[in-house]
Amino acid sequence: MDASHGTSATTATLTVGNESWDLPILKGTVGPDVVDIGKLYGQTGMFTYDPGFTSTASCESQITYIDGDQGILLYRGYPIEQLAENGDFLETCYLLLYGELPTAAQKADFDYRVTRHTMVHEQMNRFFHGFRRDAHPMAVLVASVGALSAFYHDSTDISDPQQRMIASIRMIAKIPTLAAMAYKYSIGQPFVYPKNDLDYASNFLNMCFSVPCEEYKANPILSRAIDRIFILHADHEQNASTSTVRLAGSSGANPFACIAAGIACLWGPAHGGANEAALKMLGEIGSVERIPEFINRAKDKNDPFRLMGFGHRVYKNYDPRAKIMQHTTHEVLGELGIKDDPLLDIAIELERIALQDEYFVERKLYPNIDFYSGITLRALGFPTSMFTVLFALARTVGWIGQWKEMIEDPSQRIGRPRQLYTGSTHRDYVPMARRK
Ligand code: CMC
Repeated sequence: MDASHGTSATTATLTVGNESWDLPILKGTVGPDVVDIGKLYGQTGMFTYDPGFTSTASCESQITYIDGDQGILLYRGYPIEQLAENGDFLETCYLLLYGELPTAAQKADFDYRVTRHTMVHEQMNRFFHGFRRDAHPMAVLVASVGALSAFYHDSTDISDPQQRMIASIRMIAKIPTLAAMAYKYSIGQPFVYPKNDLDYASNFLNMCFSVPCEEYKANPILSRAIDRIFILHADHEQNASTSTVRLAGSSGANPFACIAAGIACLWGPAHGGANEAALKMLGEIGSVERIPEFINRAKDKNDPFRLMGFGHRVYKNYDPRAKIMQHTTHEVLGELGIKDDPLLDIAIELERIALQDEYFVERKLYPNIDFYSGITLRALGFPTSMFTVLFALARTVGWIGQWKEMIEDPSQRIGRPRQLYTGSTHRDYVPMARRK
């Protein structure tokens, strides 16, 4: 990795008692400076303490930049709005993986390579049949992506750049197939094989919604909407699931297993599970009249309820993806002729009230991408249990791009955080008969 911009321009001084230490300050191309504490323990015998990593940069990266105060999201420098408006998902995948937008020839070659890897090993079908039909599709996805590590032994030598690239292409190509299989399995329909003459999004819709007994043709406006949802979710720098993938990968683990770890992390309601939770919440609110009651609950410190789809660790402004998502929601509902969606009415009113409420304004709690994505995915025909699966599908390229960047970083070491120990100090074993 080019570390030329990482040279120290100045230093920060840490003073404890009578002793002082100079710590180098690193500068990125944009964004806050970073105090390099890599040698802190060796020099001072102290660790830093930062639960939730709110002030800690865990790595150097050139992939995605977020300015949370301004509400800016850039992939390789390009604003998310421009990529979502002008490009397609596979172009975004190429950009995230290789660092530059593809030429026409590079794009055609990339599309071809991804399309030719969409089938999964036939043995995977049998693997699926071991799951209960009522299993959550995320549980099935975690397991089936993990199982890929048992199938593709020719792309798991992570020290070989060629094998790394094949593993990356395989992941991007096969994740829609596995996601669609998880869905089909849950509703008891036969798996639908990928069709290579369809674009990435249309192929996914076809694998989810076609059945062998009937012709299905993906609506291009809906395909475009799902493609845009994939672009919006493709990467988001060092979030919980991406950090999980990096940490798992830092030990040299199998790349498919690392992505499975990322999917497991994404599942939680504070992360990727929020779109499912946001839609459930809108249903629970049920009518515009009940919004104040739920706003009050969200503000009540003694009530664990939170407004799902609101707030973000990094964005302290409107999530730029939420704006595009809101537009896409209207487009999809318009195309499907859904004039009155009561949940959309509740969402719009809830957003309006929350954005004026002192509690939310003070804490800079704005709608995030998950606030509107649930309504769109439901209109497209997906059950709520599939929402996080679609997020995982789209984020796979981000995870694999970040994993690849980490492996290619010469300064990469196994991730191993330290702790502030507050448990018992040394004590001797007490035989059971003498315990009180
Ligand atoms: N509803 C009500 N209060 C909230 C909410 C919310 N959704 N989010 C944060 N707060 C309050 C929180 O109680 C705290 O108040 P106080 O300072 O009085 O104690 C303050 O705002 C700061 O919250 P925090 O929990 O310290 O913030 P965080 O950065 O640790 O959490 C978050 C970020 C996204 C987990 C949180 O905002 C949340 O739980 N939101 C709802 C779930 C959600 O929509 N998640 C999707 C995130 S975007 C998709 C993704 O990246 O995966």
